[in-house]
Amino acid sequence: MFDQLTMAPSDPILGLTDAFRKDPNPAKINLGVGVYKDEKGNTPILTSVAKARQQVLATETTKNYLAIDGSPEYNRVVQELLLGAGHPMLGSGRVVTVQAPGGTGALRVAADFLHQHFPAARVWISEPTWANHSQIFRLAGIQVQTYPYFDARTNSLGFEAMCRALDSAPAGDVVLLHGCCHNPTGVDPTTDQWHRLAELLVARHLLPLVDFAYQGLGRGLREDAEGLEALCALLPELLVASSFSKNFGLYNERVGALTLVAPTREAAQQALSHVKICIRANYSNPPAHGAAVITTVLQDTQLRREWEGEVATMRKRIAQMRALFAETLRQKGVERDFSFIERQQGMFSFSGLNKEQVETLRQVHGIYIVGGGRINVAGMTRQNMEPLCSAIAAVLN
Ligand code: LMR
Repeated sequence: MFDQLTMAPSDPILGLTDAFRKDPNPAKINLGVGVYKDEKGNTPILTSVAKARQQVLATETTKNYLAIDGSPEYNRVVQELLLGAGHPMLGSGRVVTVQAPGGTGALRVAADFLHQHFPAARVWISEPTWANHSQIFRLAGIQVQTYPYFDARTNSLGFEAMCRALDSAPAGDVVLLHGCCHNPTGVDPTTDQWHRLAELLVARHLLPLVDFAYQGLGRGLREDAEGLEALCALLPELLVASSFSKNFGLYNERVGALTLVAPTREAAQQALSHVKICIRANYSNPPAHGAAVITTVLQDTQLRREWEGEVATMRKRIAQMRALFAETLRQKGVERDFSFIERQQGMFSFSGLNKEQVETLRQVHGIYIVGGGRINVAGMTRQNMEPLCSAIAAVLN
């Protein structure tokens, strides 16, 4: 049977990492996949995470299975991180969380759950969006629609066009929103726009699914949850897919969570019972280690303070790289105005470079960025800034 298959295209992000690894060019620079690098170009284990890992290894007594929905302590700290400890919804029973293998795992569980119980629901994703979103939902059997998001003329959010499209969505459809640090554009709604979005979703009976993969890397841990809080204040139901790959640097541990908000405690428990079936039929129950590390960090006052400091360091370094990138491009005589890069948030910068320019950067200069022109700013350093900007200047001129 298998000889009838043709080659599938390589993944637009992780496939680029494979190509980068094979490239013999000693000056190559990988700004494709969203991975944070420090000043030296390394992706080290966070100090808070390393300390928590020691505690976990020293105290764990078994490798027995977790429950289908994961560790209850982990699920509780995830909810507190999302909503803030003491949030009134936390004691209401309306919020349930399941541990998941990464943000992608959480999205796939959400997709399976939605498709099985609401088969007519379509998912609306932003144009553009993370390269994996569309195939996660399509392969789960869900029809995908897009809403306009980025206005390339102004390098900002085309909010009115976005609202017009969502206004046409039938009741019961699902709207995927990026909680903060929109991937790939780095452009987020303002506070006022989040409130208007919440009103629109309520009025149109649409279900938000918030992909929350960069909490803390935009403006701050609580500030980045502002959109989610606006949605929670108005909407009776929503879903959140959390990823801790970036803000805990736990990329290869695959730690995430799916949180479901329901109108009542009973509805939350009913939905949870079905989500658990999706998990059981998919990967049975989640891996334990990464979640145990996160629980340890978030429950220990000292470690938590240290982690918050490390998240702030990552956030500030990314902001510095944004400023330096825009400034170095100016110094290199690039005429196009790249000042918008300083206004974008999170790991990614949507550069406006076209397909051919991206290809030339790769083939001629060994610089790897995602096809749509997305650059991982968190992979820039003071060392690679010069060759990077010289190459972009050469390509643009
Ligand atoms: C990215 O967008 O580069 C990251 O979220 C990594 C991935 O899995 O694509």
